[in-house]
Amino acid sequence: MKQILIPKLLRHKGQEKLTCLTGYDAFHATILDESSVDMILVGDTLGLMVQGHDSTLPVTLEEIIYHARIVTRCATTKLVLVDMPFGSLQADVALNVEQSIRVFKDSGAGALKMEGATSEILTTIRHLTPMGVPVCGHIGFQPQSVHLSGYKIDGKTLPDQQRLLEEAQRLQDAGCFAIVLECIVDGVAELITQSVEMLTIGIGSGLGVDVQVLVLHDLLGMTTGRMPSFVRQYAQLQKTALAAVNDWVDDVRSLNYPSLGESYQNPNQ
Ligand code: KIV
Repeated sequence: MKQILIPKLLRHKGQEKLTCLTGYDAFHATILDESSVDMILVGDTLGLMVQGHDSTLPVTLEEIIYHARIVTRCATTKLVLVDMPFGSLQADVALNVEQSIRVFKDSGAGALKMEGATSEILTTIRHLTPMGVPVCGHIGFQPQSVHLSGYKIDGKTLPDQQRLLEEAQRLQDAGCFAIVLECIVDGVAELITQSVEMLTIGIGSGLGVDVQVLVLHDLLGMTTGRMPSFVRQYAQLQKTALAAVNDWVDDVRSLNYPSLGESYQNPNQ
């Protein structure tokens, strides 16, 4: 197996920062596999980035398996995490375990990610980890609960800080090897990082986490519209792609494309 395994990644905790980016298809996976990034997340953000929805909620189990299978086929050296989509983890623990095993087996991913720290999710994790299914938790802002919570920054008050610390501890006790901390105020994300042995994977949660994660489309400028303030764009691919398409259309209209070299010549004429 060429894929980097979890014990090796865990050894970096407290030593050096790790990185994770989302990826949803062969184009992303081949770039990320060649890059120096440490992990790839087949996140349910694919609902927004690939499918054109306005939230992560419509993504189905079949769709996440489909995308994760493509990513694991093309990225063979990185740890690939795959999100359990909205509705796939309900109150019925037996069903949760069955769905989780299905995603783990069929996707070829190295770990599953689950939003929330409800008692059903904790019990599900307690069943999965002894079977050899690594699980990453996810607390703070949870996009699958956006209808109830709205877009919020978590950890601003003392009770919220206490709850986050307790949730992290419970997820670790259940067996998680890592935990996503989404939109949690700096100092609190750092406190959680120091209080657990798991890797903390931060998005919009400041410097004090073990792993930084971003949505690939945000980092590469492949999306339009308002960006969250924690996003730093390193390219403007949407603009570059639009300009390339329009240049080609102009060339076609002005008979500048195709040239002789871009056409097949008959050697017998
Ligand atoms: O689905 C996703 O891409 C995520 C990241 C934003 C952490 O959960």
